[in-house]
Amino acid sequence: MQPSVVLALETSCDETAVAVVQGNAVLASEIASQIKIHQPYGGVVPELASRNHIVNVKPLVQAALKSAGLDLNGIDAFAATSGPGLASSLLVGNTVAKALAVSTRRPFLAINHMEGHLLSPFLSEKADPCPSVALIVSGGHTMIVDMKEVGDYELLGRTRDDAAGEAFDKVGKMLGLPYPGGPEIDRMSKSGNPDAFDFPRSMLHSGDFAFSFSGLKTSVLYRLPEVVDGVNWLPDMCASFQEAVVDVLVEKTIAAAKHTGKDCVAASGGVTCNSRLRGQLTQRCAKEGLRLLMPSHALTTDNAAMIGYVAGLKFAEGFTSSVTADIDPNLALA
Ligand code: KG4
Ligand code: ZN
Repeated sequence: MQPSVVLALETSCDETAVAVVQGNAVLASEIASQIKIHQPYGGVVPELASRNHIVNVKPLVQAALKSAGLDLNGIDAFAATSGPGLASSLLVGNTVAKALAVSTRRPFLAINHMEGHLLSPFLSEKADPCPSVALIVSGGHTMIVDMKEVGDYELLGRTRDDAAGEAFDKVGKMLGLPYPGGPEIDRMSKSGNPDAFDFPRSMLHSGDFAFSFSGLKTSVLYRLPEVVDGVNWLPDMCASFQEAVVDVLVEKTIAAAKHTGKDCVAASGGVTCNSRLRGQLTQRCAKEGLRLLMPSHALTTDNAAMIGYVAGLKFAEGFTSSVTADIDPNLALA
């Protein structure tokens, strides 16, 4: 039997995204980026995000249907991210998905954004989800999860303060780089020396799977007065900061794989766009004999295809949500 066709909406933060997914086939994936709108403020302004979701959502649904070559009658179920995220943003995608579900008499599925990220490597690599250690690194979250099977997740550790992406963005701001800082620092680091500044690897040897990035951020701040005008220190500072983040993320992930006896690592979230993180994960997993799955660039940062994919997996198991179910800005994964 053919997998169901799901139309999914993702509006948890600043990107408005709509996708049509059938099993692990992405029939359409549309994203309206709001980066330019929030850039002057150095971060996401919730009120602006929700207003722009409202403007973007209808044309995006139409564009997704058109590029999938379907009309609403061709959709078997509608899904939306119901948390975690910004309340006023979540409400837009949720309300639209529920309205479409009610008007077409199709089911609605509420999906956890972090589960979308977690399973995105499997969608990307068209692999069946398998027991894995998952590293999820985004702008709002940094966690290591023991994934036993789809829907059965044990949180092994998370950040105690800043998320990795948040640290990239805050350090980018400190260094005068445009928002979001992550991609800028990645780009700058390519011509920098990662050993130029000796930044701390916080909690590297803590013996657990918790993270902390706020001390690293402060270390960057303290080293700023040392840099001399006219000397091109920026690439070195970026590369050294990035190396400190990547070292901790990679080593803790490998340690978690050993701890749980998993032979598969699934890395996801916006920060897995980072070229150094991808490179180091690839190298370390190969050395340890671990299979590594990562999302393609298009599926790394926020998108609706990952939400549609999870919805499809859940729908196949008979799961649906009530259209009266509320959003949950603090929705937990495990
Ligand atoms: O998963 P995502 O799109 O949104 C959240 O759910 O948070 O992640 C966005 C985060 C931002 O903090 C951004 O700076 C970071 O991912 N990011 C990167 C790179 N590309 C995006 N961080 C480091 N290097 C990159 N190349
Ligand atoms: Zn995300």
